Order: sequence, then structure tokens, then C-alpha cells
Amino acid sequence: MFQTGFSRSASISKLARIFIRGISSQPGSRLEGKVALITGAASGIGKATATKFINNGAKVVIADIQRQLGHETAQELGPNATFFSCDVTKESDIANAVDFTVSEYSKLDIMYNNAGVACKSPPSITDLDLQVFDRVMNVNVRGVMAGVKHAARVMIPRRTGSILCTASVTGTMAGLAQHTYSISKCTVIGIVKSAAAELCQYGIRINCISPFAIPTSFVMEELSQVYYGVDAQRILDMVYAVGSLKGANCEPIDVANAALYLASDDAKYVSGHNLVVDGGFTSFKSLELPAPDQLR
Ligand SMILES: NC(=O)c1ccc[n+]([C@@H]2O[C@H](COP(=O)([O-])OP(=O)(O)OC[C@H]3O[C@@H](n4cnc5c(N)ncnc54)[C@H](O)[C@@H]3O)[C@@H](O)[C@H]2O)c1
Repeated sequence: MFQTGFSRSASISKLARIFIRGISSQPGSRLEGKVALITGAASGIGKATATKFINNGAKVVIADIQRQLGHETAQELGPNATFFSCDVTKESDIANAVDFTVSEYSKLDIMYNNAGVACKSPPSITDLDLQVFDRVMNVNVRGVMAGVKHAARVMIPRRTGSILCTASVTGTMAGLAQHTYSISKCTVIGIVKSAAAELCQYGIRINCISPFAIPTSFVMEELSQVYYGVDAQRILDMVYAVGSLKGANCEPIDVANAALYLASDDAKYVSGHNLVVDGGFTSFKSLELPAPDQLR
């Protein structure tokens, strides 16, 4: 995903267990009685959001391609979590996940299209591997599109609903990631705007969240290949160090909090929006001029 200017392949096994802070959250009632479906919720941002939603009174269907981890996550989150096996690249899987949610809980209030994959193609556009491009777009764009389509299918008749998608700062500012990943996340922001134009007439809101770098397995697996042999803690520290906002790190819970806001009635008039969770990173650039005494 990240643009480093070089690449190296290596084993990632030593980084299989990464400690991600901030997944637990305080109970609340902002989603009392609501039903949510979250793709890519077996781990990382999706899992943190599922936890947050459940702690706020929602029932959550965890849809993920990883069956065992998905089952374990649902078990860990308790009786208000259910796992449904789903590969977002298959439209029928998404349609089935939506239909399962409605048959299990009689409605779908919140659809969070969060599943996504990193991109390991070479950094230069002249070396762009279009097979990799298709594979990444299939998950990050087509998977989101299918989620929006099937959520809308069941939400339109009810004239209510909140759809969320995970974009990225790499979709807002170029040069942070390889072209393929960046383009996929730009497109997610575009999907949200395009769908909002139609869905607003039915009272359905659609928004996306653009997180900064968070050391979930997604990021750690990729960086462990680039920085082969480097200790996981050093990679973690490096990811946190690139943030702009001092005194805080970007964590899954920060995205979960943004998702809770957008999914809840607190955001009842917010639609077509891209909520950037990046500590200000994409808001500015420094000129980095030398200090006067450096020129004397
Ligand atoms: N971690 C970051 O730095 C970061 C930053 C910006 C955006 N994002 C986005 O956040 C989202 C979640 O990523 P994460 O960081 O929590 O990583 P993660 O690897 O912990 O979670 C991704 C989840 O998606 C699932 N998944 C992958 N392909 C799938 C498919 N075809 N069908 C269904 N599920 C699938 C995985 O099994 C996994 O559980 C992704 O869309 C990612 O692009 C991540």
C-alpha cells in the first residue's frame, strides 16, 4: 500500500500477532435497536467498529472472507454478533449477506463496506501490473459498489438507512501509496458522492471515512515484506511516527468512533461526506525552509 520507493519480499510469520490498542470501548446507546452489516469485520478497523456498534446497542453481522477468524471474532463479541462468510468480490455473497441480515434481524439499518486489500505492485506506473490492478479494484471498488447496491435494495423500500465505506487518505492525497491502491480509494470517495445523489431522495445517507495509516495486519504484513527482518515493534513505531498530530496515534478505535457518529442519528443530516481521520495530515504541507541561522 505505502509508497516507499523500494520493495523486498520476505516471510511475514513473525508479525502474525500484532497488538492493536484501543479495540475495547465504553458502552453507550447511540445505536440501540439498530442492525448493522460490516464487511471485513473479522479483524482491524471492521472488528473495532463491530465492537463499538455492539457496545452501543446494535446487532452486528460480521461478513468476512476469513471464516475461522470471523467465527472467532463473532464468538468474542458475544450474542449480538453473528458471522457470515462473504467474499465481497462475489456479488452473490454480498446479496446473501444482506438477505441473511434481513432474515435474521428483519431489517438492515447500517451497511459498512469496509473490506479492503493492500496493493503490492511496483511503485512506477510504467511497471503497473494490470492483473494486480484488477484484483485490487475487484475488492476495494467492485466489492464496495456491490455492498452499496444491495444495501440500497433493502433500504429504499424502508426509506431509511446509513451506508458507510472505508476510503483512505491515499484517496485524497496522491503519492502516499502505490497507484493502484490510491486509485481504488479515490474511487470509493467517488462512489459515495454518486450514490448520495440518488439515495438522498429516499432518506438514505451514505458517507465514507478516510483513515490515516493504522498498523493493522493489513499494513504490518505489507511493511514486514518491505522491511524484511526488522522487528515488529520498530515497524509499529515507524508507522506511528509518520503522523502529524503529536501526542496521539491513529488507531482502529478512531475509525470506529467516526463510524459510530456517521451511522447514528447524530449525523442525521450528513450525507455524501468523506470524514478524514488523519490528525490533520492531508490538510497542510510545510515549506520546510531552512532556519535563518542555517543560511548564515
Ligand atoms: N490500516 C490502515 O492503515 C488503513 C488506512 C486507510 C484505509 N484502510 C482501509 O481500512 C479497511 C480495513 O482494513 P484494516 O486496516 O482493518 O485491515 P485488516 O487486514 O485488519 O482488515 C481487512 C479485513 O478485510 C477482509 N477481507 C479482505 N478481502 C476480503 C474479501 N474479498 N471479502 C471479504 N472480506 C475481505 C480481511 O479478511 C480482513 O478481515 C480496508 O478497506 C483498508 O483499505 C486501512
